[in-house]
Amino acid sequence: MPDAVLAQFSDVLRRQLIDLRRDLHRHPELAFAESRTGAALEQALRDLVEPLLGGRPLIMTRVAGTGLVARIPGANREAPVVAVRGDIDALPIREATGLPYASVNDGVMHACGHDVHASWAVGAACLLAQRPAAGDVLIVLQPAEEIGKGADAVLASGLLDGVAAIFGAHVDRRFAVGQVVAQAGPLAAAADTFSIVLRGRGAHGARPHESADPVLGAGLLIAALQGIVARRVNPSVPAVLTVATMQAGTALNIIPDSATIGGTVRTIDPATRTLVADELRRVAHGIALAHDLGVEVSFELGPPPIVNPERTAAWAREASTALVGAANVVPLGITNMGGEDFACYMERIPGAFLRIGAREEGGEPTPAHSPRFFAADGSLFVGAAVLAETARVASAALTAR
Ligand code: NI
Repeated sequence: MPDAVLAQFSDVLRRQLIDLRRDLHRHPELAFAESRTGAALEQALRDLVEPLLGGRPLIMTRVAGTGLVARIPGANREAPVVAVRGDIDALPIREATGLPYASVNDGVMHACGHDVHASWAVGAACLLAQRPAAGDVLIVLQPAEEIGKGADAVLASGLLDGVAAIFGAHVDRRFAVGQVVAQAGPLAAAADTFSIVLRGRGAHGARPHESADPVLGAGLLIAALQGIVARRVNPSVPAVLTVATMQAGTALNIIPDSATIGGTVRTIDPATRTLVADELRRVAHGIALAHDLGVEVSFELGPPPIVNPERTAAWAREASTALVGAANVVPLGITNMGGEDFACYMERIPGAFLRIGAREEGGEPTPAHSPRFFAADGSLFVGAAVLAETARVASAALTAR
């Protein structure tokens, strides 16, 4: 790990943050059910940050049920306010890491590193209490990122009204601990979802001519939908259409009345997002018509894409370079088609989203949402230091204007 990162943390604080992370990892909770997690984070902020504020009480507000916003005082209380966000929820996955601090909640796991994100937000709070930014910094501990609903719930509270800039990051095992992605341009995709119900006419499996078969329709539709990305979207523009669920039928000799398929659409640019949604409806109606089926299409918009603006990305890059060195500020290298509800903040507040290397030496680039995923300890300190310094750089730039 880079020396400039390590130098930010006392031995005691490092131990405390690692203990916090392991405690959160051991007790993962699903979206909007993070009550133990929220309480543990509130306690950690009191225990770790308040002593650094010279006895002043830390101002904290619960938000979105299980979340929490803490206000770290800046040098000038009138200066613009910036925010650092860490998400706190886990996934419905049975952990298979074999870690000594593996989940004790069977079927629930921190498989996306939000245990580290929550802990680095607390770490950033400590660093900003030790060496304040120009203005106040809000530490936002956000629930329910995995279902794409937590950021909107935090925004609806009004607690971030007037915030001048917001920063967040995600662990990434494609990159070694010490490497940081802090660049302008696309960092995450729009994550929309769809469901299509085909309604036909059930019949005996031996007499298909008496039916209007929704299972055959669903099969043809699944194949036809792949033609949208293959034949309608410009090949130089990224897009994904995945059918992930299908439900139909009750017995091996009955053609059912209906079949339902569902899935997700990932896009970066707005025109392609609209094109895929329109084509999905058109193809569904076309297949239904061809096979004498009724059809209902629902298309739900999820978080928009994250596209970092040059100005805010430059603040993050300056902070990252100071901490890990220019050679370790690396390009993303791919187009990330994962979704991230941090995009909801960036619709309203200027900001930037970073990726923080989380692969230990000799480790595998295990993807997030795998039952074997975990973020190496060192990523916690890089994330905390980079986000705290990004907040300082942004705060100084916004105050100077
Ligand atoms: Ni995640």
